[in-house]
Amino acid sequence: MARIEIVVADITGEAVDAIVTAANESLLGGGGVDGAVHRAAGPRLAEAGAALAPLDPGDAVVTPAFDLQPPVRHVIHTVGPVWEGGDQDEAEVLASCYRRSLEEADRIGARTVAFPAIATGVYGFPAEEAAGIAVRTIQNTPTAVETVRLVAYDAEAGEILQAALSAS
Ligand code: APR
Repeated sequence: MARIEIVVADITGEAVDAIVTAANESLLGGGGVDGAVHRAAGPRLAEAGAALAPLDPGDAVVTPAFDLQPPVRHVIHTVGPVWEGGDQDEAEVLASCYRRSLEEADRIGARTVAFPAIATGVYGFPAEEAAGIAVRTIQNTPTAVETVRLVAYDAEAGEILQAALSAS
């Protein structure tokens, strides 16, 4: 089982093998964390993504990290569920984002992976529920990844992740 760390940071500055971005199905980039990752990785990220698009919600694909600084070698793109009230299988789709991203991390031999709080921004997934799903899914997914770093963008989000980890 991977060790889980929680940090409050801009994910594009994390020194990990692979950074996960909360993408949309086009993989062309957008706002939020996806916008930050695409800005840091440069225009080749959208070109590589376009070749793999469309990506279904809950799935994950890997591209090179292009202009992101070493040691980051890969970007794992995953598409979270748009929150529609909770009865449209959103929880299972979100869990699948974490599971499939870890599967892709194993396929590329990544040992350290940073995740944003997938789907809790534009897609509106409640942060507390999403944090519990993230922690439980990571803890229940066999993986060769040694360290998963859950990156909160602000202190409040960090406290929510820490509470979920402490409760697990
Ligand atoms: N580093 C870490 N976390 C960040 C960063 C950053 N630089 N920027 C934003 N976040 C956080 C947000 O605060 C939120 O908690 O990432 C989390 C996910 O929010 P979004 O980026 O809005 O992602 P999501 O809710 O999954 O919506 C995805 O938004 O940007 C578009 O192309 C994207 O259409 C897709 C949709």
